[in-house]
Amino acid sequence: MFNYHHKSLEQVVLGLHFKNPIGLGAGFDKNADLVKTLPKIGFGFSEHGSFTGEPCEGNAKPRLWRLPKSESIVVNYGLKNDGAEIIARRMQKQLKEGKFSIPLGINIAKTNCEATSDDEIGIADYAKAYKAFLAVGDYYTVNISCPNAFGGQPFTDGKRLDKLLTVLDNYYIEGKPVFLKISPDLTRDQIDDIIEVCDKHKVDGYICTNLTKPRDKSRIRDEKVPEIGGLSGKLVEHLANDLIKYIYKKTKGEKVIIGLGGVFTAEDAYKKIKLGATLIQLVTGMIFGGPQTISDINRGLVKLLRKDGYANVSEAVGVDNKL
Ligand SMILES: Cc1cc2nc3c(=O)[nH]c(=O)nc-3n(C[C@H](O)[C@H](O)[C@H](O)COP(=O)(O)O)c2cc1C
Repeated sequence: MFNYHHKSLEQVVLGLHFKNPIGLGAGFDKNADLVKTLPKIGFGFSEHGSFTGEPCEGNAKPRLWRLPKSESIVVNYGLKNDGAEIIARRMQKQLKEGKFSIPLGINIAKTNCEATSDDEIGIADYAKAYKAFLAVGDYYTVNISCPNAFGGQPFTDGKRLDKLLTVLDNYYIEGKPVFLKISPDLTRDQIDDIIEVCDKHKVDGYICTNLTKPRDKSRIRDEKVPEIGGLSGKLVEHLANDLIKYIYKKTKGEKVIIGLGGVFTAEDAYKKIKLGATLIQLVTGMIFGGPQTISDINRGLVKLLRKDGYANVSEAVGVDNKL
């Protein structure tokens, strides 16, 4: 029921072996408590965090609301976590007991506090988090798109991103790819700037996307939506799909895209793959659908691939988004 395997779902991406393309997105396992459990429910990879240089309490409660009719969650967590060094030490202990069985993503962000809104301190905070996890991660995600942290999203600005990546490049290890996680709410000009900057640095791909902030009343079906926080699930799905499509074209398919936002079913995942995502993540789909969602999606994907005549999921990447 939980741990479905099929040859057609296996891929080697940037040197890492993925037994299937469905991963857990960041935010569900904020302190890396579930590293050993997640492979057992069928995930092909898992991303943990966001982890920050300093420990962080997060924003005041309440900070999570379900929007059941809109199939979305309002998230105003504000990067709650125990801090990179403490968590990394715990993970190193686990690693000594045996290698992790699926690729493990480490999502780093800057601590949600006033001090890190100074760029130099913010960059040092990212670097502290990255350094702490060098021995335990298989890939790293630089999260520049948390919608709920003090000081907003400064590193979506090209010049400031350039400074951040110049520092993080120093810690890059061959065979341990780096992704940039971006917001669905940026203009295409901002995205173009980001891509131009990333091309000069050690960035192997993009994670599309984080939560969306604007309240699009035409799509919201619940009566009450808090003003604060970012929106997940079906309220971000179309924005994420548009951005996957745009970035795949803009980067001529040369960068790896991990697509997430509103994936509840195999059809949702397949749509993102055909737009250009090589790998898929989900958070809200599993919260609403339960842990069997992952195997259900993988089973469904195998059927969809077979129906379209593809022997492997990699053959379907970008087929609906010709370069
Ligand atoms: C409860 C919750 C907490 C989240 N926390 C983080 C986080 O700490 N870091 C991050 O990069 N994304 C975080 N996200 C965003 C998700 O990783 C994802 O980008 C977004 O929810 C869209 O995917 P989904 O529709 O599958 O949930 C969080 C999402 C949820 C629902």
